[in-house]
Order: sequence, then C-alpha cells, then structure tokens
Amino acid sequence: MNKVTVLGSLNVDTILQIPRLPQPGETLAMTDQRSAGGGKGANQAISAARSGAATSFIGKIGDDENGRMMLSFLKDAGINTEQVTVSSKGTGQAFIMLQESGENSIIIYGGANQEIKDADIENAREMIQSSDFIVTQFETPFDQATHAFKIAKEAGVVTVLNPAPAHKNVDPELLQNVDLITPNETEAEILTEIKVVDQITAHEAATRLQELGAKNVIITLGGKGAYFKTATEEKLVKAFKVHAIDTTAAGDTFLGALVSRLNKDFSNLEESIIYASKASSIAVQKVGAIPSIPTEAQVKAALEAEK
Ligand code: RIB
Ligand code: NA
Repeated sequence: MNKVTVLGSLNVDTILQIPRLPQPGETLAMTDQRSAGGGKGANQAISAARSGAATSFIGKIGDDENGRMMLSFLKDAGINTEQVTVSSKGTGQAFIMLQESGENSIIIYGGANQEIKDADIENAREMIQSSDFIVTQFETPFDQATHAFKIAKEAGVVTVLNPAPAHKNVDPELLQNVDLITPNETEAEILTEIKVVDQITAHEAATRLQELGAKNVIITLGGKGAYFKTATEEKLVKAFKVHAIDTTAAGDTFLGALVSRLNKDFSNLEESIIYASKASSIAVQKVGAIPSIPTEAQVKAALEAEK
C-alpha cells in the first residue's frame, strides 16, 4: 500500500446547472443547483484513499461550517488530517457553471487555501519524509510547493505536480524537483507554448517539460486517453469511452488513483494509468467532485467487466 501525502486545496463547490453561459447583462434561470465537496487537493487525496493508499493531507480551512464539512469528508475517507489547520480566512470555494453540453467554467475563492506558510510545511516535515509520494497542485501557494518538494527529494520521496489550474510562469526550481508532472492539454500548452492535439504534439510538449526538469510526464488528453513519457519509454494509453455528465474532478480522480498503486520506480506505470483512466471514467458519469470519486472495489469491478 502506498503512503501518499497531498499538499493542496479544500473547496466547497457550488454547482450551478445551466443551459449555457449567460451573456453580459442577461438573467438566466438555472435548471438545478447543488453543493458538493471539492478542491483539487481534497479530490486527489480522496481518490488516493478510496483506491487504498494510506493518505495524509496538508492544508488549511476556515473557522466555519464549510471547513468543518471538508474536514469530515477527509476523515470519512480515512485520511490523516493532523496537518490540516485553521486560518483566519474562510474555507475555499468554487462556483462551477456546468452547462448542458457537459462543459464547465469555474470561479474560485482561494481563502484559507492561500494561507499555507513555510511554518506549515516545516510542521509537516516528518509526514512528508515518511511518504512514498507527495502530490500538489496550483490552488495553494507556489513557494510552499517548492519548499515541500525539496524536503521530499532529500528523503527520496517521489514528487508529483498536477499543474492545475493552468499557470504560465512556474518557478524553474519547482520543476527541477518534479519526478512526475501531469498536465492536461491546456495546461501543457500554457507551460510549453506547444499546442497539444495528438501524440506527436504531446511528445513535443513532454520533451520540453523534461528539458525544464520534470523527469516523467503524463499528459491527459480527455477522450483521446493519456500520453506518458519517461526517460526510456513513451505511449498513448487509450481512454475508456463513456457518456460524460460532469467532468469536474476527472483529472483529480485520475491522479489520486494513479499514485495509490504506482511503484516508486514507475515500473508499473502503464498498468497504473489504465486503472486511473477507469477510475476517472467512473467519476465523470456523476455530478459533483467528491461524491463521484470511486472506490478501489468499484474500479476493479469495472475493469473486470471489461474483460
Ligand atoms: O479539479 C476540480 C476542482 O477544481 C473542483 O472540485 C473545484 O473545487 C475546483 O477547485
Ligand atoms: Na464528477
């Protein structure tokens, strides 16, 4: 069983189901509205935990109802929350406009997520050092990601960066400490200025990311699958075809599931990608982030049914 630490965000998601995005000045009626736990950090941690990883979380909540709810979601998934602390800012929130087409647009309130400081990373030093993998994203501050990855690298912990939401000017020092980077097409393009549309362009973008310091690359290509490139191998692993209802947290589910079973030397990378793709294909068939993330039993049963 892998030991996974996630440094990341906790958000309460408000999902506005709408026929389409409103025009400026327009008033538009929703077809439905609901709330669910989310945040890239929380989603990835819950996916790892539901797939059997011994998971710990480093993050911040506000002293509010949303924060207590997010904490209970982590605890219910069996996640170690010793390093989830309370800040004076409110718990993070995301407002997700989910269109009938299945596309979504998200507005974020960072709040407590942006209050993670170096002292929080130092307090989590032992937690990081005793992990197999550390995972982070861009909904918490960059400097503390670099700080955590430096501690991890010195201790031989595998560092995984999900560069989401997309960001242009990523600290070169952070990328030099990354063992695995997992952008989607958009994020890969923003990081490399190479438009990723197929395996050839994915190869070019991955090569560029390796030049910038990331040792291994997985570019998720939605319905086209996931392309990976290590020092010695590369391949496009096909996606499972499903009817997507809500793609929120598809990438998060993929990543958490992946690190739950990946060997530290990446020797079972392709097999882990297949498992992660199946997990993510289950998540997109349900509305909401945390409620849609499958367990190991569900993923294995779905893989069995495929045979
Ligand atoms: O990656 C999906 C997540 O991004 C949502 O749960 C939302 O909180 C946004 O942060
Ligand atoms: Na979903």
